[in-house]
Amino acid sequence: MKFNVALIPGDGIGPEAIEQAVKVLDKVGEIFSHEFKYTKVYAGGSAVDKYDKPLPEETLDICKKSDAVLLGAIGGDKWSNLPLNKKPEKALLTLRKELGLYANLRPAVLQRSLKNDCPLKSELVKDGIDMIIIRELTGGMYSGEKGVRQGKDGKEAYDVECYSENTVRRIASKAFEIALKRRKKVTSIDKANVLESSMLWRNTVNEVAKNYPEVELEQIYVDSASMKILKNPGAFDVVLASNAFGDIIADEASQIVGSIGTLPAASLGEKSLGMFEPNQIHSSVQDIAGKNTANPIAVIMSSAMMLRYSFNLNEEASAIEKAVSETLENGYRTRDMMTDGMKLVGTREMGDVIAKLLSK
Ligand code: IPM
Ligand code: MN
Repeated sequence: MKFNVALIPGDGIGPEAIEQAVKVLDKVGEIFSHEFKYTKVYAGGSAVDKYDKPLPEETLDICKKSDAVLLGAIGGDKWSNLPLNKKPEKALLTLRKELGLYANLRPAVLQRSLKNDCPLKSELVKDGIDMIIIRELTGGMYSGEKGVRQGKDGKEAYDVECYSENTVRRIASKAFEIALKRRKKVTSIDKANVLESSMLWRNTVNEVAKNYPEVELEQIYVDSASMKILKNPGAFDVVLASNAFGDIIADEASQIVGSIGTLPAASLGEKSLGMFEPNQIHSSVQDIAGKNTANPIAVIMSSAMMLRYSFNLNEEASAIEKAVSETLENGYRTRDMMTDGMKLVGTREMGDVIAKLLSK
């Protein structure tokens, strides 16, 4: 089959990392007889430098016409003082909105070979870590009414958190559907002891849960959830959260799985078009950019998610994930994950090893 992929190499380590994903995808194409056609486009800081805007119309157009979008990295200190609508991050927010990507999937999995790199005591992770955060991605305070005005105590600013029943239903159904294919447990996170928007969230999730009697539903407050993730991470399977809470919880979870550099993310909508990117999309790590030391695994794993969720190529996606696991088990590490006794490799070499291990 033929697929059109919009490639956004982006900023910092994005370009060299995405090159490795392309290498791996091309190998998948060879083995499984598919053709991936790539169109490179600008977004983020590099687009600000070239076009004076984070998301040129041409980029959005090409992304809309593609079968999927694969993104390397966005942002960096260089652009952090720009106004909100000129910041590189604005490109991400606009892409999510314009492509209708309301569901963000962020797996947090402790690979067997990275067990010793987990910062938690081994007795806390004896059940392993295998959760997926399902974050609502286009609503809440990210896109609610916002502004700055003169108040009675001086200037004040606001970002409104507003959720409709339909928006919650849509993301909750997604979480339950995903839970059906996993360990059949959903933990929904809110702050229903304080926030109206969370009360509505909780009640709506309860309603949706009735359609999935075989899935266990747990509803906990976000503060307590952030504690439990560190105390008993094995208890989490599917974690459902609003845009803002999901943003925070996903970063917390990313820190307990040994290496942040291995984690992918997928943003999905109603149709098959999705956007795929490393979990830590904004840490584009400018200082090591272009030095062949960056870890390409997160974007390679993101390309596996692209195969699974946008192209429905499950076998091919599993082949990539298996090749990555084997590479790690064989001791290959980029600098960020290097420990005693392991084999240090560069960005390109990591891509080569993974591509070589690919098989049907
Ligand atoms: C993320 C990032 C983005 C977000 C930023 C860069 C706008 O933190 O994808 O988690 O907050 O959604
Ligand atoms: Mn984030």
